[in-house]
Amino acid sequence: MGKTYKIAVLGGDGTGPEVTREAVKVLEVAARKFGFTLQLNAYDWGGDRYLKTGEVLPANAAEEMLRHDAILLGAIGHPEVKPGILEKGILLALRFALDQYINLRPVRLYPGVECPLKGKGPKDIDYVVVRENSGDVYTGAGGIMMKGSPHEVAMQNMVYTRAQVDRCLRWAFNYTRKYGKKARGVGAHNTLALVGKTNVLTFVFDLWERAFHEMGAREFPDIKRDYYHVDATCMWMVKSPEWFDVLVTANLFGDIITDLAAITQGGLGIAAGGNINPEGVSMFEPMGGSAPKYTGKNVINPLAAICAGMMMLEHLGEQQAAQAINAAVSDVCATKVKSLAAGKMGYGTQEVGDLVAERV
Ligand code: IPM
Ligand code: MN
Repeated sequence: MGKTYKIAVLGGDGTGPEVTREAVKVLEVAARKFGFTLQLNAYDWGGDRYLKTGEVLPANAAEEMLRHDAILLGAIGHPEVKPGILEKGILLALRFALDQYINLRPVRLYPGVECPLKGKGPKDIDYVVVRENSGDVYTGAGGIMMKGSPHEVAMQNMVYTRAQVDRCLRWAFNYTRKYGKKARGVGAHNTLALVGKTNVLTFVFDLWERAFHEMGAREFPDIKRDYYHVDATCMWMVKSPEWFDVLVTANLFGDIITDLAAITQGGLGIAAGGNINPEGVSMFEPMGGSAPKYTGKNVINPLAAICAGMMMLEHLGEQQAAQAINAAVSDVCATKVKSLAAGKMGYGTQEVGDLVAERV
């Protein structure tokens, strides 16, 4: 008998529920084929519920999530709710409450997907960003003083503890050992590169850099270490993405560079990520937003949500099922969808879900 997994499904706002439905469709086909069971519990957390009840998240939300093996999230963001309320109150609140301290963002260009970088193909765009997900300016440390006066002061502090940095780096080194380019048979080394700003942020990235080299030399001598400034990283992501293997970086830089990375892999229609607590409950999501203007039109691309589902299965240990979804997505990109953009796929949202499900 295969295992049973309890999955919390948070469709969220806008097109979130419709892309999540397609991801669930594909996951259920994979479960039948590979002999495991998904027990799905849906939650209506999002903008509509907030507008109706005035509550962003119920008080027992984290407890509720802790009764699951993983979380599948659609998208958060509602046009009638002031920006920040739902993002902070739902997405960031869950990341923090569940201590999902790793944000894993694979950057892979599938065959057949149009890449905005001239002369680059799937062989060139094949790396991973490990974004620290619990510290940095996201902690909310800081404040506004003398608000409204000419002397108003605003501060938002970049905060890291050694323990936070160490746990992220250790996870990134282990990930590199297991999934780096050498481990996957596509390169001579497994390389972990720290992305920072040691030339200006001489406190926070001094800590990161020392921790990185100390840990690497002591515990991971088999892994090649590199360091890049974040601004230069942006340039190379466009010019020479084939240089990269695994990148590790702080929360804000990771947020920014993974949007740039996403566009090089075909955009937010395909990019997915995992908010991981290696010892707890992790949450998988498409990187794109709720795209409210496309809600209910059956035009939004569900592939990113399907890829989030695939990452979830990988995380749960269902490697074969994850590989089958990966192969199916790859084939649908190569032979079916004309473009990854909403309304330009040549198929509707549900049809793209069907195409992937048939291939699994
Ligand atoms: C992301 C998003 C979030 C972030 C926002 C919506 C809070 O941009 O997941 O990358 O900044 O982490
Ligand atoms: Mn982002």
